Amino acid sequence: MAKKIVIIGSGGRLGAALLREWQAAGDEVVGLNHAQLDIGDAAQVRARLGGVAFDVLVNCAAQTNVDRCEKEPGEAFLLNSQAVATLADVCTRKKARCIHISTDYVFDGEKREPYTEEDEPRPISVYGESKLRGEQCLHAVADKHLVVRVSWVFGPDRASFVDQILQRALDHESVDAIGDKTATPTYTLDAARLLRPLLDLETDGVMHLCNSGGCTWQEYGQHALDCALAAGVPLKARTVGGLKMAELKAFIARRPVYTSMSTARLTRTTGLTPRSWQDAVDDYIRTHWVPRVREK
Ligand SMILES: NC(=O)c1ccc[n+]([C@@H]2O[C@H](COP(=O)([O-])OP(=O)(O)OC[C@H]3O[C@@H](n4cnc5c(N)ncnc54)[C@H](OP(=O)(O)O)[C@@H]3O)[C@@H](O)[C@H]2O)c1
Repeated sequence: MAKKIVIIGSGGRLGAALLREWQAAGDEVVGLNHAQLDIGDAAQVRARLGGVAFDVLVNCAAQTNVDRCEKEPGEAFLLNSQAVATLADVCTRKKARCIHISTDYVFDGEKREPYTEEDEPRPISVYGESKLRGEQCLHAVADKHLVVRVSWVFGPDRASFVDQILQRALDHESVDAIGDKTATPTYTLDAARLLRPLLDLETDGVMHLCNSGGCTWQEYGQHALDCALAAGVPLKARTVGGLKMAELKAFIARRPVYTSMSTARLTRTTGLTPRSWQDAVDDYIRTHWVPRVREK
């Protein structure tokens, strides 16, 4: 049966990619961006969504600024927890499925092998706590639901670490990135392909979704530079120097040092295996970043 899909937060890095890719694939998808819907206003959410017919809602909206969450915990819990409960309630009343995007930051980072969905979340920041509370709200309130945790999201719709380090390498002779923090990048166009089957399945609980493998920021940045150089872009910097997380005085929130995630459940459920983060970064740089830089 054809599904009617609503994406909340469709102006963001992930939401914009899901909207475009699923529309291009022929799905009936409506996107609501921040200007069209403030998820922090429960009455507005109920009124706005009350008039829309849908089978599945995908919530990509969140307060994603980790340091801002530490300074503004009230806002973090309003947007990352309470708003999820409201969206979940609207979905339950409409008998719609609610898919909520969460984060690897629900973990404390003490493990040294990929986190599975069975691992106990133990957040170490307000952002992580507020996102975990959001997951709990979803489980408690939504009838048909799924939490999808992603990590280190990059893609063409909003600049991320990849774009920032490449820009720095275009402008400066030397660039650095953190070498003692490991996670797994998630390419938004791969996420669109991997997430889509989950809209039709009755799977519930939690699902990890990212590319395969894991890397430090330094390795991630170095691979980005290598791809741009291989594509013929004249970067001023060719190598990424290592920084220690403790040296970054600008960080307010604590960050977990290791949050690579296993995607075994995703593969068992959908039959799809995410490609490596290296292939995904290479694809993004050749298909999106290089043409944009050449246009300038
Ligand atoms: N980025 C990452 O590396 C990362 C890592 C792990 C998990 N995640 C999760 O992935 C999801 C998508 O994140 P993303 O990478 O796409 O980040 P993003 O680009 O910051 O997207 C978040 C979206 O939420 C919107 N938003 C913020 N406050 C809102 C409000 N009050 N009402 C409605 N919309 C609001 C933002 O709109 P404005 O920008 O216009 O305010 C933005 O479009 C989030 O749940 C995030 O927690 C992201």
